[in-house]
Amino acid sequence: MKMHNFSAGPAILPAEVIQQTAQSIANYNDSGLSLMEMSHRGPDIVGIMKNAVSLTKELLGLPDGYEVLFLTGGASTQFFMTAMNLLDANKKFALVDTGTWSSKAYKEITKFGPCDLVASSKDKNYSYIPKGYDIPSDTNYLHLTSNNTIYGTQMHEWPDTKVPYITDMSSEIFSRPIDISRHALIYAGAQKNMGPAGTTMVIVKKDILGQIERDIPTMLDYRTHIAKESSFNTPPVLPIYVCMLTLEWVKKMGGVAAMQKRNAEKAALLYGEIDRNSLFKGVANIEDRSHMNVTFVMHDEAHNDAFMKLATARNCSGLKGHRSIGGFRASTYNALDIASVQVLVDAMKDFENQNA
Ligand SMILES: Cc1ncc(COP(=O)(O)O)c(C=O)c1O
Repeated sequence: MKMHNFSAGPAILPAEVIQQTAQSIANYNDSGLSLMEMSHRGPDIVGIMKNAVSLTKELLGLPDGYEVLFLTGGASTQFFMTAMNLLDANKKFALVDTGTWSSKAYKEITKFGPCDLVASSKDKNYSYIPKGYDIPSDTNYLHLTSNNTIYGTQMHEWPDTKVPYITDMSSEIFSRPIDISRHALIYAGAQKNMGPAGTTMVIVKKDILGQIERDIPTMLDYRTHIAKESSFNTPPVLPIYVCMLTLEWVKKMGGVAAMQKRNAEKAALLYGEIDRNSLFKGVANIEDRSHMNVTFVMHDEAHNDAFMKLATARNCSGLKGHRSIGGFRASTYNALDIASVQVLVDAMKDFENQNA
């Protein structure tokens, strides 16, 4: 049965990645061993780790001086690990509050040092991306959440400042080209656009490290993981392997520019129907609409259950909106085909024909 997986995360992965993973779990490369049984110090796993790093560098066009790490603890650990490594009494963060995840980041960052909340869209339930705010001149890093998984907003224009960004790209990494030189650090939990839960990618500009007065616990010091190529302790080999396969798939599909085009086409199709259909309406400010998480509601909420029933009968899964905004959320990550979006759009049209 072909399912159309619109889940926000853990989320859809390319079918061929799942098949290859299943094969490697059963018998990795005809070695007679499962990938899960193999030492992380052995050549096979070391090769996988290196390949995952070099694919990341290639796909994102990372210049020299940036390191790619595969860590654990989820993106949530990065909320404080960034601050623990980069912030002390002489350094200052600023943060743009665009939703639940940036609010959580703010709470953790301020446990380690000063952080100016320079803008927030909380006043309108995070339905837009703030613009035109000032960033104090003594700011060292600006923390951004570039795609807001829950509210369905995305930074299509990046803040115009020389202050380097620290960016949570959990729900959009590898979905579009970025100007890496503006980011001092990027982090992303794997489980949305890259792989299964269990590893978090960190891309860090090496020369920003070691500039603060703090004795950082070894496991929480980025320099430990750079020195040991993400294998200071036992890394989550299986999730990293799946990320590597997904990145190979992204490359085969034409890279992040091709992903951007594919994601824009899906977004245009779905938002087009949301705007056309008399029963539905979008939640996010039009110019800030996410190309990854499409949030929408029904004018008459009494229709919610019936529409969900119809969509479920068409094999659409994971459409329930987050409890903070209700309605529906269709996540259209890289691996989702436009054909799946068409199935959802057809369900919306049919529902309108039956109920409008
Ligand atoms: C944008 C964003 N940041 C952070 C997180 C938290 O990620 P994790 O569960 O890996 O800690 C999420 C999870 O959904 C997210 O969407």
